[in-house]
Amino acid sequence: MSSNKKLMVLAGDGIGPEVMAATLKVADWFARHRSLNFDITEGLVGGAAYDAKGVPLTDETLADAMAADATLFGAVGGPQYDDLPFEVKPERGLLALRKEMDLFANLRPAMVFPALVSSSTLKPEVVSGLNIMIVRELTGGVYFAEPRGRETLADGTVRAFDTNMYTPPEIERIGRVAFDLARKRQGRVVSAEKANVMHSGVLWREVMTALHQAEGDGVTLEHMYADNCAMQLVRAPKQFDVLVTDNLFGDILSDTAAMLTGSLGMLPSASLGAPDETTGKRFALYEPVHGSAPDIAGKGLANPLAELLSFSMMLRYSFDQGDDADLIEQAVEKALSGELRTGDIMADGFTQTGTDGMIDQVINSLDELAR
Ligand code: IPM
Ligand code: MG
Repeated sequence: MSSNKKLMVLAGDGIGPEVMAATLKVADWFARHRSLNFDITEGLVGGAAYDAKGVPLTDETLADAMAADATLFGAVGGPQYDDLPFEVKPERGLLALRKEMDLFANLRPAMVFPALVSSSTLKPEVVSGLNIMIVRELTGGVYFAEPRGRETLADGTVRAFDTNMYTPPEIERIGRVAFDLARKRQGRVVSAEKANVMHSGVLWREVMTALHQAEGDGVTLEHMYADNCAMQLVRAPKQFDVLVTDNLFGDILSDTAAMLTGSLGMLPSASLGAPDETTGKRFALYEPVHGSAPDIAGKGLANPLAELLSFSMMLRYSFDQGDDADLIEQAVEKALSGELRTGDIMADGFTQTGTDGMIDQVINSLDELAR
């Protein structure tokens, strides 16, 4: 019986397969140097699954992902799929994985690597040393709540609608994740909603406040309207430690936070379910925050570091291999000081490279660090 970790690989569309292939080279490095072996099952998702099977996620692929210890995801989507019916759009494949595995807790760390301070569009003093953990609720809210749809009124007017909806247990469980993470960090949680205009925002604030009173030892909680939060993120981002918010605001605020770090090509994420009460097993999917980047897909130009850092989050959160995760992060930092950089993080004094050049530089750094 092999005790290898079971890894489901879903590379998806656009640059997904390229950054995935690069990341798996690093997985291979760990197999050779650290006896960290994975049994890999590959599957199709998004447009790739639609092209082959007519749906963006098959039941078999979902079952494979559920049977694995963790899923590493690339990206989905592309302009050729824009006109598909809603139910079979590539994004539905990702949303179905999130929903079916109940991956309610999405962790999106926005960290500025010292070597990339000058890549941000913000001033170096505003972003240097930045380290924010965004905790986004991922299985509720406007992404999934019913009613949603489109209808034609009696007078012929078309009306489209979505619903934002949350229950206290949904808010409590994501709040708990934020508090637990904050205890291992600086102990500061900001909760963002629109309690000034939305009923779901009022409830969100009430539940967070009550949870903080009941379970918030060692953590401070501040409430912020989501629009103000967006402004504060670009004005003075270092005021944030952990930022907890709902599905839609989390989608928007995490892209904002991503750009503080210099490039969307650097940001990983972890989407976690609750640990099973008897087995302790928790579903988990790791994916870069960047999308499929159709404009550069297939050209070998994409920055593979967000996918690699997602792999590193997987080692940390699913496999309790914190030392190996640290090693990857150190190797990335070291590689960023090397000669080569991908286009998204190019700067004076560096030579532009592609996906392979970038990952090889990380592997060289791993070799050096492991010596
Ligand atoms: C993200 C993406 C997804 C989302 C899309 C691809 C469905 O933007 O993970 O942030 O909106 O959640
Ligand atoms: Mg997004």
